[in-house]
Formats: sequence, C-alpha cells, structure tokens
Amino acid sequence: MSDNANILPASDQNLDAAAAHLCTGGLVAFPTETVYGLGADARNDTAVARIFAAKNRPSFNPLIVHVLDLQSAAAFGHMDARAEKLAAAFWPGPLSFVVPRRAESGLSLLVSAGLDTVALRAPAHPLARDLLARFGGPIAAPSANAAGEVSPTTAAHVARSLGSNIDLILDGGACAVGLESTVIDLCSDRPALLRHGAITLEQLEGALGAVDDATRPTDGQAPRSPGQIARHYAPSIPVRLNADMAAPDEILLGFGPSCPATAENLSRTGDLTEAAANLFAALRALDRPEYRAIAVMPIPGTGLGRAINDRLRRAAEAHNV
Ligand code: TXA
Ligand code: MG
Repeated sequence: MSDNANILPASDQNLDAAAAHLCTGGLVAFPTETVYGLGADARNDTAVARIFAAKNRPSFNPLIVHVLDLQSAAAFGHMDARAEKLAAAFWPGPLSFVVPRRAESGLSLLVSAGLDTVALRAPAHPLARDLLARFGGPIAAPSANAAGEVSPTTAAHVARSLGSNIDLILDGGACAVGLESTVIDLCSDRPALLRHGAITLEQLEGALGAVDDATRPTDGQAPRSPGQIARHYAPSIPVRLNADMAAPDEILLGFGPSCPATAENLSRTGDLTEAAANLFAALRALDRPEYRAIAVMPIPGTGLGRAINDRLRRAAEAHNV
C-alpha cells in the first residue's frame, strides 16, 4: 500500500465515513485552520489510547478536545467568565483553553493524561466543523504527526508521518495558519499563556487584562504544560537561528526580500502570516541527511513572529540538550 492510499477528498460521502470511523473507535486525520489533527472519540478510552500508540506519544502528554462551540465546551470543562469572554472574541478559532475538567464530563481520563484539567478548542475550519457536527461528540485530536516531529500542514505530511496507522485522512488542502493553536491556562486566578500561536499575548491581554507568559519556564521550574518540552518541535538535523547565510554544509531557510532567490523562503515579502503557514512544510522539506544543519534567517519578534520564533527556538534547543 502506498503512503497516500488512505488520503480522501472531503466529499459528503467521505465525511460520513470519517464520522462512522470515529463512532466505532477509529482514528481519522482531519484539517483544522492550524494544523492537521489526529482525531478519535474523546469519550472512548481505547480510541484515545490508539492516538497515543499511533503517534508513539509519551502518555503523560494530554490532548486537546475539539468541540463546536462554547456550549458544548461547557459540558466538559468549567468555562468561567474569562473563558466565555475569550470564546466570544476568538472562537471558533486557533485558541485552546485549559480549564478544570467536569467530574461528570464523560471524557476519557487518558485525554487529560491523569490531570484534573482539560484543553478545549472550537476549530474554525469548515471541514473540522462539518466532521464535529456529523459525529455529534467531542473529538480528541493532537497534531497528526509522530511524537517529536513537526506538525503536519498538509494531508501528504500526515500520510508520510503516520501512514497506515490511521483509518482515513481527510484532505482539506494546506492549513491557513500553519502553527498549532495558542494555549491559555485558566485554572487559576492569573491566566497563563502556555503556548504561543496565532492569537497573540497582546490580543489575550486586550480581552482579559494581565496574562502571565508561561511559555518558557525558568530553569529548574517544571513546565506547566507537558508539550513545552523542547523536543516537541524538532526536525532531525540541527537548526541554527539568526543566520545571515548558510555555511557550505548547511541549507538556508530564508525570510524576506534579502534572502537569495534560489533559497527556500518562508515569505519573500516578509509577511509573518505567510511565514507561519509555510514554516513546518519548509522545515520538513529541508530536514535531509545531506545537510549538517538548517540555518534560519532572523524573523522579527512581533505579532505572529513570536510564535514562529518560539517554534524555531524549540527546534534549535532540541539539539543543544
Ligand atoms: O492547533 C492545535 O492545537 C492542534 C489542532 C489539531 O487542533 N492540536 C495540537 O495538539 O497541537 P497537540 O496535542 O499536539 O498539542 C496540545 C498541547 C500540548 O502542548 C499539551 O501539552 C497541551 O496542549 N495540553 C493539552 N491538555 C493540557 C492540559 N490539560 N494542561 C496543560 N497543557 C495541556
Ligand atoms: Mg503536537
């Protein structure tokens, strides 16, 4: 069987087939506006366990539960006034909330990997929403890549990474955002940003007031989110940041108009949104054994550039530990 044998176009019939797989405990990869997710019924322990197995994911890393809206989120987690405010502003969209889990949520305990909290997100992508509606329940979905690889932004990435481990891959083209969702922790009085994403710290503070930036735990402090471990976002060869040019045995990943025309470029015009959407595909394309390292040109640290630099820093740090 070729790697791509289970990629299917998102027709009415294939969406029904995907929902049917979810109902019987199967695994379905589907597009969201951020990255492709590897979905299973969030209430079915065996199905959720299959996600961990397919990804070879350390079992301590909890999963995001996808829902259609605030109302369904509230059935699974305690959505307080802050969560309601953020949901009104940014849902459906690339923002996940970590909130206290409801005792009667019916969610698999494995989804939270033993924590008494749960991450909830209402995605904006029309195919993700169509699948949620047809399935009629919560879909647990981490990014659809093997653990430690960069997240997939096309159906072909999913097929290459997870291939025949999953029942079906719904093809919705390339993901518009291209970076995983922003994760905000609302479990304590002081909201804390756990992962940078397309919804920026400034946008969150605009809605809520002060938000702690907990994305880079200080030395000796345990990470607040298991996904903060550096290896989460790494290609297999080293990544060198803030490079002016590539050494002879390196390959350049450029940004902006000053990059040589022949090099891979995240955005020739220097557009951060375009760069975010291209980032993971570019890292994958350049992750080849004939290069010693990927040399990445500087990316401005403003707006979406923060999230891009965060992912790049993790990719670089993974080889320094
Ligand atoms: O954009 C996204 O969020 C994508 C799409 C598919 O929705 N999903 C995604 O899932 O990136 P994943 O599993 O690769 O990343 C989930 C992140 C991890 O960093 C995980 O540690 C954190 O969310 N997380 C999940 N549940 C948590 C919890 N209860 N407490 C703290 N962190 C949590
Ligand atoms: Mg992931």
